Amino acid sequence: ERVALDAADLEIGGHDTYLHKEIFEQPESLARMLSGRLDERFATARLDGLGIDPRELRGFKRVKAIGCGSAYYVGQMGASMIEDLARIPADAEAASEFRYRNPIIEPDTLYVAVSQSGETADTLFAVREIQRKGGRVVGLVNVVGSTIARQCDGGIYLHAGPEISVASTKVLTHMAVGFAMLALTLGRVRDLSYADGARIIAGLKSLPEQVQQVLDTDDEIAGAAASLVGAESLFFVGRVRGYPVAREGAQKLKEITYQHAEAYQTSELKHGPLALISTSMPTVAVVPNDELVDRNIGALQEISARGGRVLALTHEGVNLDGLDVQRINVPDGEVELQVVLLTVALQLLAYHVATQLGRDIDRPRNLAKSVTVE
Ligand code: AGP
Repeated sequence: ERVALDAADLEIGGHDTYLHKEIFEQPESLARMLSGRLDERFATARLDGLGIDPRELRGFKRVKAIGCGSAYYVGQMGASMIEDLARIPADAEAASEFRYRNPIIEPDTLYVAVSQSGETADTLFAVREIQRKGGRVVGLVNVVGSTIARQCDGGIYLHAGPEISVASTKVLTHMAVGFAMLALTLGRVRDLSYADGARIIAGLKSLPEQVQQVLDTDDEIAGAAASLVGAESLFFVGRVRGYPVAREGAQKLKEITYQHAEAYQTSELKHGPLALISTSMPTVAVVPNDELVDRNIGALQEISARGGRVLALTHEGVNLDGLDVQRINVPDGEVELQVVLLTVALQLLAYHVATQLGRDIDRPRNLAKSVTVE
């Protein structure tokens, strides 16, 4: 008797969904992305695809990332990395809004278009608007030969492999790592020291193994997810580098669980939304072991004091004794790269809430994998 084999079933391996498969592929796919792109001798990255020589790279006075949805949030993570490592002003903007506000295009700004599919209409039209006005755009794109990849003046392919699930996961960590390599390159033609460059390279090399360590805490994250199932609404909070992590965490939860979540800067809670905190509104707080840790802990106290439940995504060294919070520890690492591991933990969190709710994880309602209309 012949066994009917579906090609898609074969591809999905032992996983229940593509989303699960893609989350768990990250250690391997990130290692592949990094391979051959780190230059240990000069403590920089090898990004030949950018097509920009070091002298020209040195001339950029500003960096602006543009992308939509999760790609925009990773652009925010990338902007922080560039400011931290290269000390060039950097920010990110939603490509879907960009060209409608008659943006000022500066010749000494490096524009970075961020896209998994390379086909997102809003991002493509923003790229063309920048180029029409004389700006230089490089792409951080996954799909080789896609429209945005071809339209850009150079770029960094993300090499994450195909991403089938509508909600993006593995490509987002690849985008963040792409930004880290870009920040390293921009930093090393400026004031980033050899020692700091080497520190970032070592941090990047450790990432695949550290992502695996996050994946190994899957059962623990599933347990934490159970306490969020059915909440009418949630806050995701973070500060500075942690804020785009919170935004992406809320986005992932909304997309695949249909539970409402709002991302906020932790520091802004007290300026209004603290009024919403109650026993029925849990908060997922990004609390990395960075220079803001004490302030973040203060905010957790404020939330707990008002009866709000808190799930803290944090590092082992962070002391939360005496606070009534649930915690998930992710591996620590170089402060500029922490966003990658924090993001993976929030992917698992959303996945487990969605599974416990019985959602259609790979094909959430109302969404398409690539939005090719404006
Ligand atoms: C991510 O989970 C979303 N499905 C969505 O926000 C996506 O990141 C956005 O539409 C951009 O897509 P792109 O990366 O293919 O350009």
